[in-house]
Amino acid sequence: MPASVKWLLLLLGLGVLAAGAAVGVQAWQLRSERRILAAEHTGGDVEAGRAAIERYGCGGCHRISGVPGASGRVGPPLAGLARRFYVAGRLSNRPAELILWISHPREADPRTAMPDLGVDQRDARDIAAYLLALGPPVP
Ligand code: HEC
Repeated sequence: MPASVKWLLLLLGLGVLAAGAAVGVQAWQLRSERRILAAEHTGGDVEAGRAAIERYGCGGCHRISGVPGASGRVGPPLAGLARRFYVAGRLSNRPAELILWISHPREADPRTAMPDLGVDQRDARDIAAYLLALGPPVP
């Protein structure tokens, strides 16, 4: 293979690597921004929210990315929640309403299939922060 072709291939390879790195950095930045905004809007802690979701067993009924074993299909998947207009089609999707739904879903609608799990305020805030920081659903 002529040297010029080798150089060309090398340059091409470097270009692909750089583009891949740029996409990776952008995804990371978007994720950090979502996490910061979600924490600001809810007053909750994203990482503590992930742990609380595991503790309360929300994943038995919901698919929730980033939470091991959260693959339930009783309720809707929670990815992309931040972009939804309503929480469970009942409440406006504002932080206070989302926190209310997480701690007392049956107060919002006594006939909902989602049980009241006795989630306290602190945990509900943290969980809301985690859920609002989730990215869009993976197709
Ligand atoms: C026994 C199953 C079950 C468990 C456990 C459960 N959920 Fe749900 N969840 C549901 C169902 C069913 C719905 C749909 C409710 C409706 O429309 O009335 C729902 C709806 C939701 C919604 C609204 C989603 C949307 O798309 O608007 C959120 C947010 C939510 N659940 C969060 C949680 C969290 C957080 C936990 C854990 C603390 C949890 N759920 C535990 C069954 C469950």
